[in-house]
Amino acid sequence: MPSIGSKEIVALLPIVFGLNQNSTVAIPELAYPTYAVGALLAHAKFVTYRQASDIPDHTDLIWVNSPSNPTGEVLSADQLKEIVARGRQLSAPVVSDECYIELGWEAEPISILDPRVCGTDFTGILAVHSLSKRSNLAGYRSGAVLGDAKLINDIVSLRKHAGLLVSTPVQLATVAALADDAHVAIQKARYAKRREVLRAALSSAGFKIEHSQAGLYLWATNGSDCLETVNWLAGKGILAAPGDFYGPAGQHHVRLALTATDERIASAAARLTGN
Ligand SMILES: Cc1ncc(COP(=O)(O)O)c(C=O)c1O
Repeated sequence: MPSIGSKEIVALLPIVFGLNQNSTVAIPELAYPTYAVGALLAHAKFVTYRQASDIPDHTDLIWVNSPSNPTGEVLSADQLKEIVARGRQLSAPVVSDECYIELGWEAEPISILDPRVCGTDFTGILAVHSLSKRSNLAGYRSGAVLGDAKLINDIVSLRKHAGLLVSTPVQLATVAALADDAHVAIQKARYAKRREVLRAALSSAGFKIEHSQAGLYLWATNGSDCLETVNWLAGKGILAAPGDFYGPAGQHHVRLALTATDERIASAAARLTGN
């Protein structure tokens, strides 16, 4: 099912699934804020989890995000399998936001729909994709939901009556972008170079980089409170996101994006290393 980017799916799926004030949505401990926003828009509660066994009984929807924003952590097939098993035990759909899946650096991100995770049985599982990162086409607002045909049918039935449709030009552009992997490889190589430059500079400025095996961010800590670090980096003209924006567990981390230009990344690296 085509979607208007992936963000609207993350924000609206709890409502589309009919969740309400008696419902619970499980989201990763450190997460893109829109998972919580989606639960709140449906007046549902959200709980955070680190691993499948943390997901409480009576959970109605489980979000997965691998590679993760903000940490860049990649979940293994076994970890994904455990989350799928927990979802099925609770009859809660497991929805995996895979918008960074093409951007693996030190780990191979795999889809929740991969046979190593679920064989050929997609029951209760959905994957959410986007052209925003893969093809650098955030402005096109093009995403897609794949997986359990019954869940998709239910979602389509409701969404078409709400006017949540992707325009024909954007659908045609999406087909063209998905048929071409060359531009993805070129963009990925750009990010890889920026990542090496920024990673080396952060390390030499005393930061430890954690996770960050994939995706568009470096998840870094120098042990200080995240706002102090954001302030210190701002003094060097570098904008970082405070880790606690993604959950209290991020209090000592900051997130740096690889989306600045090569020239800006090189300049930031020089300021970090004092060169
Ligand atoms: C984890 C995650 N999901 C979804 C999105 C939304 O992206 P889009 O709506 O452009 O596909 C983002 C954007 O940063 C993101 O980090």
